[in-house]
Amino acid sequence: MFKVSVFIFFSFFALSTFADTLSTSTDKINIDLDLGEEINEVCAGCHGEYGQGGKNGEYPRLAGLPEGYLAAQLKLFKDEKRKNMPMRPYANERELPDEDIPSVAAYLSQIKLTNQMPEFDETMTAYEKLLIAKKVFNIPKLEGDIEWGKELYVDDCQLCHGKNGAGKDESDTPPLTGQYTQYMMKQIRQFANGERWHEYSDALFEEMEAEEIQAIMAYLSITDD
Ligand code: HEC
Ligand code: HEC
Repeated sequence: MFKVSVFIFFSFFALSTFADTLSTSTDKINIDLDLGEEINEVCAGCHGEYGQGGKNGEYPRLAGLPEGYLAAQLKLFKDEKRKNMPMRPYANERELPDEDIPSVAAYLSQIKLTNQMPEFDETMTAYEKLLIAKKVFNIPKLEGDIEWGKELYVDDCQLCHGKNGAGKDESDTPPLTGQYTQYMMKQIRQFANGERWHEYSDALFEEMEAEEIQAIMAYLSITDD
Protein backbone atom coordinates (compact mmCIF):
# COMPACT_ATOMS: atom_id res chain seq x y z
CA MET A 1 0.00 0.00 0.00
CA PHE A 2 2.76 2.34 0.95
CA LYS A 3 4.58 1.67 -2.28
CA VAL A 4 1.50 2.36 -4.35
CA SER A 5 0.76 5.70 -2.74
CA VAL A 6 4.38 6.79 -3.08
CA PHE A 7 4.16 5.83 -6.73
CA ILE A 8 0.98 7.85 -7.18
CA PHE A 9 2.50 10.80 -5.40
CA PHE A 10 5.56 10.75 -7.63
CA SER A 11 3.59 10.32 -10.82
CA PHE A 12 1.44 13.26 -9.89
CA PHE A 13 4.55 15.27 -9.14
CA ALA A 14 6.16 14.27 -12.43
CA LEU A 15 3.00 15.09 -14.37
CA SER A 16 2.56 18.50 -12.84
CA THR A 17 6.19 19.49 -13.47
CA PHE A 18 5.87 18.19 -17.02
CA ALA A 19 2.78 20.36 -17.51
CA ASP A 20 4.69 23.34 -16.08
CA THR A 21 7.52 22.82 -18.54
CA LEU A 22 5.03 22.59 -21.39
CA SER A 23 3.23 25.77 -20.45
CA THR A 24 6.40 27.78 -19.90
CA SER A 25 7.82 26.65 -23.24
CA THR A 26 4.62 27.56 -25.10
CA ASP A 27 4.56 30.92 -23.31
CA LYS A 28 8.05 31.65 -24.54
CA ILE A 29 7.83 30.34 -28.09
CA ASN A 30 5.04 32.18 -29.75
CA ILE A 31 4.63 31.09 -33.36
CA ASP A 32 2.61 33.37 -35.57
CA LEU A 33 2.56 32.27 -39.21
CA ASP A 34 0.99 35.56 -40.37
CA LEU A 35 3.88 37.43 -38.80
CA GLY A 36 6.27 34.92 -40.42
CA GLU A 37 4.70 35.61 -43.82
CA GLU A 38 5.03 39.35 -43.27
CA ILE A 39 8.71 39.08 -42.29
CA ASN A 40 9.33 36.90 -45.33
CA GLU A 41 8.38 39.79 -47.63
CA VAL A 42 11.81 41.23 -46.85
CA CYS A 43 13.63 37.90 -47.21
CA ALA A 44 11.84 37.26 -50.52
CA GLY A 45 13.92 40.00 -52.18
CA CYS A 46 16.79 37.49 -52.22
CA HIS A 47 15.40 34.09 -51.23
CA GLY A 48 12.26 34.32 -53.41
CA GLU A 49 8.59 34.64 -52.58
CA TYR A 50 8.33 30.93 -51.70
CA GLY A 51 11.78 30.63 -50.16
CA GLN A 52 12.92 28.90 -53.34
CA GLY A 53 16.22 30.79 -53.42
CA GLY A 54 17.73 32.23 -56.53
CA LYS A 55 20.60 33.22 -58.79
CA ASN A 56 21.68 29.60 -59.12
CA GLY A 57 22.30 29.28 -55.41
CA GLU A 58 23.80 32.62 -54.56
CA TYR A 59 20.67 32.73 -52.41
CA PRO A 60 19.93 29.31 -50.88
CA ARG A 61 16.55 27.65 -50.81
CA LEU A 62 14.85 28.05 -47.42
CA ALA A 63 11.45 26.45 -48.15
CA GLY A 64 10.89 23.20 -46.31
CA LEU A 65 14.13 23.25 -44.30
CA PRO A 66 13.69 22.03 -40.69
CA GLU A 67 12.22 24.75 -38.48
CA GLY A 68 14.87 24.33 -35.79
CA TYR A 69 17.66 24.45 -38.37
CA LEU A 70 16.37 27.73 -39.88
CA ALA A 71 16.01 29.28 -36.42
CA ALA A 72 19.50 28.14 -35.40
CA GLN A 73 21.09 29.58 -38.56
CA LEU A 74 19.34 32.92 -38.07
CA LYS A 75 20.71 33.04 -34.55
CA LEU A 76 24.20 32.19 -35.84
CA PHE A 77 23.99 35.04 -38.38
CA LYS A 78 22.77 37.41 -35.69
CA ASP A 79 25.62 36.43 -33.37
CA GLU A 80 28.06 36.67 -36.32
CA LYS A 81 29.17 33.12 -35.70
CA ARG A 82 28.16 32.51 -39.29
CA LYS A 83 29.34 35.48 -41.30
CA ASN A 84 27.70 36.65 -44.47
CA MET A 85 27.58 40.23 -45.74
CA PRO A 86 24.24 40.11 -47.61
CA MET A 87 22.48 38.63 -44.54
CA ARG A 88 23.90 41.19 -42.15
CA PRO A 89 21.38 44.03 -42.57
CA TYR A 90 18.50 41.54 -42.00
CA ALA A 91 19.87 39.36 -39.22
CA ASN A 92 20.23 41.80 -36.34
CA GLU A 93 18.16 42.53 -33.27
CA ARG A 94 16.49 45.63 -34.74
CA GLU A 95 15.35 43.97 -37.98
CA LEU A 96 14.77 40.48 -36.62
CA PRO A 97 14.22 40.37 -32.85
CA ASP A 98 14.82 36.96 -31.25
CA GLU A 99 11.11 36.53 -30.49
CA ASP A 100 10.26 36.80 -34.22
CA ILE A 101 12.69 34.06 -35.29
CA PRO A 102 10.40 31.07 -34.52
CA SER A 103 7.60 32.61 -36.60
CA VAL A 104 9.63 33.21 -39.75
CA ALA A 105 11.36 29.82 -39.34
CA ALA A 106 8.00 28.05 -38.98
CA TYR A 107 6.56 29.93 -41.96
CA LEU A 108 9.45 29.03 -44.27
CA SER A 109 9.62 25.47 -43.02
CA GLN A 110 5.99 24.69 -43.91
CA ILE A 111 6.29 25.90 -47.54
CA LYS A 112 6.17 22.83 -49.76
CA LEU A 113 7.92 23.01 -53.11
CA THR A 114 7.46 20.13 -55.50
CA ASN A 115 9.81 18.77 -58.16
CA GLN A 116 7.03 17.79 -60.55
CA MET A 117 4.31 19.78 -62.22
CA PRO A 118 1.07 18.49 -60.69
CA GLU A 119 -1.96 17.72 -62.84
CA PHE A 120 -4.25 20.70 -63.08
CA ASP A 121 -7.86 20.44 -62.17
CA GLU A 122 -10.29 21.69 -64.87
CA THR A 123 -11.94 24.13 -62.47
CA MET A 124 -8.71 26.02 -61.66
CA THR A 125 -8.22 29.55 -62.86
CA ALA A 126 -5.09 30.56 -64.79
CA TYR A 127 -3.92 32.42 -61.71
CA GLU A 128 -4.29 29.36 -59.46
CA LYS A 129 -2.31 27.33 -61.99
CA LEU A 130 0.39 29.99 -62.07
CA LEU A 131 0.70 29.90 -58.27
CA ILE A 132 1.13 26.12 -58.32
CA ALA A 133 3.63 26.28 -61.18
CA LYS A 134 5.72 28.78 -59.22
CA LYS A 135 6.28 26.17 -56.52
CA VAL A 136 7.75 23.63 -58.94
CA PHE A 137 11.43 23.59 -58.28
CA ASN A 138 14.27 21.52 -59.69
CA ILE A 139 17.99 21.49 -59.21
CA PRO A 140 19.84 21.30 -62.53
CA LYS A 141 21.59 17.95 -62.94
CA LEU A 142 25.32 18.09 -62.37
CA GLU A 143 27.93 16.16 -64.37
CA GLY A 144 29.88 13.66 -62.32
CA ASP A 145 30.31 10.03 -61.25
CA ILE A 146 26.89 9.41 -59.70
CA GLU A 147 27.57 5.83 -58.57
CA TRP A 148 30.74 6.86 -56.76
CA GLY A 149 28.97 9.91 -55.34
CA LYS A 150 26.25 7.67 -53.92
CA GLU A 151 28.86 5.41 -52.25
CA LEU A 152 30.61 8.39 -50.71
CA TYR A 153 27.30 9.84 -49.60
CA VAL A 154 26.11 6.60 -47.99
CA ASP A 155 29.45 6.09 -46.20
CA ASP A 156 30.09 9.61 -44.97
CA CYS A 157 26.92 11.69 -44.98
CA GLN A 158 23.79 9.52 -44.83
CA LEU A 159 23.89 8.83 -41.09
CA CYS A 160 23.10 12.47 -40.41
CA HIS A 161 21.61 13.87 -43.63
CA GLY A 162 19.27 10.90 -44.07
CA LYS A 163 18.48 8.51 -46.87
CA ASN A 164 18.70 10.17 -50.30
CA GLY A 165 19.80 13.42 -48.68
CA ALA A 166 16.30 14.11 -47.40
CA GLY A 167 17.53 15.60 -44.10
CA LYS A 168 16.18 14.81 -40.64
CA ASP A 169 13.65 17.19 -39.14
CA GLU A 170 13.88 15.61 -35.67
CA SER A 171 17.59 16.42 -35.38
CA ASP A 172 17.34 19.70 -37.34
CA THR A 173 19.77 18.37 -39.94
CA PRO A 174 19.22 20.09 -43.28
CA PRO A 175 18.34 18.19 -46.43
CA LEU A 176 20.98 18.20 -49.17
CA THR A 177 18.65 17.27 -52.03
CA GLY A 178 16.67 20.18 -53.35
CA GLN A 179 19.39 22.60 -52.32
CA TYR A 180 21.49 24.42 -54.94
CA THR A 181 24.74 22.71 -55.87
CA GLN A 182 26.76 25.93 -56.05
CA TYR A 183 25.55 26.99 -52.62
CA MET A 184 26.47 23.64 -51.05
CA MET A 185 29.89 23.64 -52.69
CA LYS A 186 30.53 27.08 -51.21
CA GLN A 187 29.46 25.83 -47.76
CA ILE A 188 31.80 22.83 -48.05
CA ARG A 189 34.71 25.19 -48.85
CA GLN A 190 33.77 27.19 -45.75
CA PHE A 191 33.57 24.04 -43.59
CA ALA A 192 36.99 22.94 -44.87
CA ASN A 193 38.65 26.25 -44.04
CA GLY A 194 36.84 26.70 -40.73
CA GLU A 195 34.75 29.75 -41.74
CA ARG A 196 31.57 27.84 -40.93
CA TRP A 197 31.12 25.16 -38.29
CA HIS A 198 30.24 21.57 -39.22
CA GLU A 199 30.62 18.51 -37.03
CA TYR A 200 33.79 16.52 -37.84
CA SER A 201 34.66 18.96 -40.61
CA ASP A 202 38.36 18.11 -40.35
CA ALA A 203 37.69 14.43 -41.03
CA LEU A 204 34.90 15.03 -43.53
CA PHE A 205 35.92 18.02 -45.58
CA GLU A 206 39.52 19.09 -45.06
CA GLU A 207 40.98 16.21 -47.04
CA MET A 208 38.14 15.92 -49.52
CA GLU A 209 39.19 16.06 -53.19
CA ALA A 210 37.33 18.27 -55.67
CA GLU A 211 36.34 15.11 -57.63
CA GLU A 212 34.75 13.60 -54.53
CA ILE A 213 32.71 16.74 -53.85
CA GLN A 214 31.67 16.82 -57.51
CA ALA A 215 30.58 13.15 -57.34
CA ILE A 216 28.53 13.62 -54.14
CA MET A 217 26.90 16.75 -55.58
CA ALA A 218 26.15 14.95 -58.88
CA TYR A 219 24.44 12.15 -56.93
CA LEU A 220 22.41 14.63 -54.85
CA SER A 221 21.41 16.59 -57.96
CA ILE A 222 19.63 13.56 -59.45
CA THR A 223 18.17 12.26 -56.17
CA ASP A 224 14.55 13.07 -55.54
CA ASP A 225 13.56 13.83 -52.01
C1 HEC B 1 20.25 40.77 -49.58
C2 HEC B 1 19.95 39.38 -49.78
C3 HEC B 1 19.37 38.59 -48.60
C4 HEC B 1 18.25 38.88 -47.85
C5 HEC B 1 17.31 40.07 -47.99
C6 HEC B 1 18.11 37.79 -46.91
N1 HEC B 1 19.10 36.87 -47.10
FE1 HEC B 1 19.26 35.06 -46.15
N2 HEC B 1 20.96 34.64 -47.19
C7 HEC B 1 21.52 35.46 -48.16
C8 HEC B 1 22.72 34.83 -48.66
C9 HEC B 1 23.67 35.38 -49.72
C10 HEC B 1 22.85 33.59 -47.97
C11 HEC B 1 23.96 32.53 -48.15
C12 HEC B 1 25.04 32.71 -47.14
C13 HEC B 1 26.20 31.80 -47.40
O1 HEC B 1 26.59 31.66 -48.57
O2 HEC B 1 26.69 31.22 -46.44
C14 HEC B 1 21.73 33.52 -47.04
C15 HEC B 1 21.51 32.46 -46.17
C16 HEC B 1 20.40 32.33 -45.36
C17 HEC B 1 20.13 31.19 -44.53
C18 HEC B 1 20.95 29.92 -44.40
C19 HEC B 1 20.34 28.81 -45.24
C20 HEC B 1 20.98 27.47 -45.05
O3 HEC B 1 20.62 26.54 -45.80
O4 HEC B 1 21.81 27.33 -44.16
C21 HEC B 1 18.96 31.45 -43.86
C22 HEC B 1 18.25 30.56 -42.86
C23 HEC B 1 18.50 32.74 -44.30
N3 HEC B 1 19.41 33.27 -45.21
C24 HEC B 1 17.32 33.35 -43.87
C25 HEC B 1 16.92 34.61 -44.24
C26 HEC B 1 15.73 35.27 -43.72
C27 HEC B 1 14.75 34.63 -42.74
C28 HEC B 1 15.68 36.51 -44.27
C29 HEC B 1 14.69 37.61 -44.00
C30 HEC B 1 14.55 38.00 -42.61
C31 HEC B 1 16.83 36.62 -45.17
N4 HEC B 1 17.55 35.47 -45.13
C32 HEC B 1 17.11 37.74 -45.96
C33 HEC B 1 21.01 36.67 -48.60
C34 HEC B 1 19.90 37.32 -48.12
C1 HEC C 1 27.61 13.95 -37.76
C2 HEC C 1 26.51 14.35 -38.60
C3 HEC C 1 26.83 14.86 -40.00
C4 HEC C 1 27.57 14.24 -40.96
C5 HEC C 1 28.29 12.89 -40.89
C6 HEC C 1 27.51 15.11 -42.12
N1 HEC C 1 26.78 16.22 -41.83
FE1 HEC C 1 26.53 17.83 -43.04
N2 HEC C 1 25.52 18.80 -41.58
C7 HEC C 1 25.21 18.27 -40.34
C8 HEC C 1 24.54 19.28 -39.55
C9 HEC C 1 24.01 19.09 -38.13
C10 HEC C 1 24.48 20.45 -40.35
C11 HEC C 1 23.96 21.81 -39.93
C12 HEC C 1 25.16 22.55 -39.36
C13 HEC C 1 24.79 23.81 -38.62
O1 HEC C 1 24.04 23.70 -37.65
O2 HEC C 1 25.23 24.90 -39.03
C14 HEC C 1 25.10 20.11 -41.62
C15 HEC C 1 25.22 21.00 -42.70
C16 HEC C 1 25.68 20.65 -43.95
C17 HEC C 1 25.63 21.49 -45.12
C18 HEC C 1 25.06 22.90 -45.19
C19 HEC C 1 23.61 22.86 -45.62
C20 HEC C 1 22.98 24.22 -45.72
O3 HEC C 1 21.79 24.26 -46.05
O4 HEC C 1 23.64 25.23 -45.50
C21 HEC C 1 26.21 20.81 -46.14
C22 HEC C 1 26.41 21.27 -47.58
C23 HEC C 1 26.60 19.52 -45.61
N3 HEC C 1 26.26 19.44 -44.28
C24 HEC C 1 27.20 18.52 -46.36
C25 HEC C 1 27.60 17.29 -45.85
C26 HEC C 1 28.25 16.27 -46.64
C27 HEC C 1 28.54 16.37 -48.13
C28 HEC C 1 28.54 15.23 -45.79
C29 HEC C 1 29.28 13.94 -46.09
C30 HEC C 1 30.58 14.10 -46.71
C31 HEC C 1 28.03 15.62 -44.46
N4 HEC C 1 27.48 16.86 -44.54
C32 HEC C 1 28.13 14.83 -43.33
C33 HEC C 1 25.51 17.01 -39.90
C34 HEC C 1 26.32 16.09 -40.55
